[in-house]
Amino acid sequence: MKYIGKTIARNDAHGFAMGTTEFGADRHLPGMLVAKAFRSTEVHAIVESLDVSAARSYPGVVCVVTAKDIPGVNLHGLHKLDQPILVDVGSRVRMYGEPLAVVAADDLETVDAALKLIKVTYRQLPIIDDPEEAAKEGAPQLHPEQFAKEYEYVFGDVDKAFAEADVVVDYRIDIPRQEHAYMETEAGITYYDPDGIITSFSPSQEPFNIRHQVARTLGLPVGKVRAIVPPLGGSFGGKQSMTMHLHSALITFYTKRPVQIVWTREESFLMSVKRHPGRIDYKIAATKDGKLTAIKVDFLLDAGAYTEHSPGVTMAVGQAAIGPYRVPNVDVRGKSVYTNNPISGAFRGYGGPQANVAIERALHNLAAKLGIDQAEFRRMNALKQGDKVGNDWMITDSNATLVETIDRIIDAAGDKPVQTDPVKKIGRGIACGIPQFDVSAKPYNGLTGAGAEVEMFFDGTFQVRTGIVEMGTGIRTALAQIVAEEMNVDMDKVDVVLSDTSLVPKAGPTVASRAMYCAGNAVLEAVRTLRERLFKRAGRLFGTPEYTIRIEDGFIFTIGREDEKIPLNQFAADAFVLGENLVSFAWVVGTHARLGHTYITTLADVEVDVETGVVKVLFLGSCHDSGKVINPLSVQGQLVGGAVMGQGWALSEDMKSRRGRILNRSLAEYFIPTSLDIADRTVGISIEDPYPTGPYGAKGVGEHSTYTVAPAILNAICDAVDIDLKSFPATSELVWMELQKKRKNNK
Ligand code: MOS
Repeated sequence: MKYIGKTIARNDAHGFAMGTTEFGADRHLPGMLVAKAFRSTEVHAIVESLDVSAARSYPGVVCVVTAKDIPGVNLHGLHKLDQPILVDVGSRVRMYGEPLAVVAADDLETVDAALKLIKVTYRQLPIIDDPEEAAKEGAPQLHPEQFAKEYEYVFGDVDKAFAEADVVVDYRIDIPRQEHAYMETEAGITYYDPDGIITSFSPSQEPFNIRHQVARTLGLPVGKVRAIVPPLGGSFGGKQSMTMHLHSALITFYTKRPVQIVWTREESFLMSVKRHPGRIDYKIAATKDGKLTAIKVDFLLDAGAYTEHSPGVTMAVGQAAIGPYRVPNVDVRGKSVYTNNPISGAFRGYGGPQANVAIERALHNLAAKLGIDQAEFRRMNALKQGDKVGNDWMITDSNATLVETIDRIIDAAGDKPVQTDPVKKIGRGIACGIPQFDVSAKPYNGLTGAGAEVEMFFDGTFQVRTGIVEMGTGIRTALAQIVAEEMNVDMDKVDVVLSDTSLVPKAGPTVASRAMYCAGNAVLEAVRTLRERLFKRAGRLFGTPEYTIRIEDGFIFTIGREDEKIPLNQFAADAFVLGENLVSFAWVVGTHARLGHTYITTLADVEVDVETGVVKVLFLGSCHDSGKVINPLSVQGQLVGGAVMGQGWALSEDMKSRRGRILNRSLAEYFIPTSLDIADRTVGISIEDPYPTGPYGAKGVGEHSTYTVAPAILNAICDAVDIDLKSFPATSELVWMELQKKRKNNK
């Protein structure tokens, strides 16, 4: 193949490099207002009064909206409509920073001055910030239901298995919150176009969801709203949620003027959804020769103030809880409970990383207790092809195996580094996982199906149109590669239009590592249908069978009769003039499985300074069975980027909150890894075993790269200094305190 499987320069790189790409904050229109939300300083309270009159009459203020001004439904949410767009008088504030009003003016100084004039009184309610307390029977509730989701599955007989086991290990871990910390904060504009269509130009992982939610807020038919999603400066699950969209839409609705809202970094930290924190308990049994016989899991997640993605994430934690292993007896029970804490939502891996860090830490302890090598222990218990996973939600239809991923990454890492400094201990950790990707078959939640169009223009160039969002992964380039490959034309002959509800077919959200598989399949089907049509026409022209037609070097011809070749642009122009159908649409729905999966193994080598607790990552590598890699450099970007994100969660991203308020609200207080923190050897390896139903055999990648990183690093630390980490991030303070504890116990 000429384009598939090749590192092709990104077709959007020029704009990013030159700074000409318009992100959400970059579009400015004449007469544009700026706006900002007035936010609650209470965490849990009834709003008793709200007076915006002084703000409304402040010189320069153009518009102030409150809940009373919402023409449609004052609710939004992803799994459930339970979040007020603006909290009304008499209603409840359930989290710090919840919006009560939006103020718009020509400049931010005026907005800020007017915001200070808004008067609000509250009746405080007790703050529910401890998920364990909130989960108790009879505890005060934030919503009609106490839990966002309760999930369980049971098979086999765990009690019998534990009674008969040679070895049983108990393990509890506290999972920290994580902030997406994308470089681009939530920012965009809304405006009326000349046809009276209200348009939102703003970040999201699903433009069709923005269109839908704006229409419902404004009480408009869906067709009166257009959503355009520009490239995102990072998202990782966090920009699925409504952020500034509905507030700016309300101001545009009343003023008929363009309105920009740019969240500050502080707003982004306070108001964006987070990776679900929680507590996970494991009890695992094995025979003395290392065969897993039973796993019992009990977990509690902090959903935060509203439902958002908690039902899905709770299920995902449960489903990932037994890892990529054969376990005959399983009992998994978990819940997510509402609290007054920040809302938990989708975050790269969608619950999988939380479960994975827990089971892989527990298995580390179990293997150590049995005296079995960590890698060998995982090889022994690995799922085999054809195994049903857990309670039957997946069948392992990969040809590649978990064992191959283990072997390949150990090979790449080489020998465990040798300790050279007496105070710097070396450790090696390993973690395996079975992350999932969506194949457009799920019968719920808008994930079913993906659409794409491919058109040939009269000049012989092509355009791909689909609802998928480019959020840094390189999907815009990968989809163009498919058309270039199938039509055998240069990459610069293929244009890609994404994520504009007025221009592209719906393709479902860009989530669940599904874009390459789902939209890739749709584009592939559309371009093949179009090619068939073009080759039929050429066959008629040349009087030859369509299977003898070829496109090459900008010409279309019959193989063996190259002297009759026609320039593709002339062929296209003729077809165009004759009114032929040059647009092909495809809609693909997965039927072979509910979910796809990949195997992944991560290996980490670390150095731990026993005097300071400082951890340095020496090697961080993952091997995954990616299926066919469409663009190797883009996939490397995902593997390395995801590894770094997992490293941050494991070691440094320490989000503190007190009484429902997040304390660190800037990148100066919340430490994502920098280039100086990244291991010299950060490695991503793909096993390219083609996946039968994927486009050219491709699978999903985007989220998988983060899945197994934290447990590999934590296991490496525990291996290095013989401690048992039960919480993280493993900051130097935490590691040092654990070392002190160990010293005391050893005295
Ligand atoms: Mo994702 S965490 O499926 O956006």
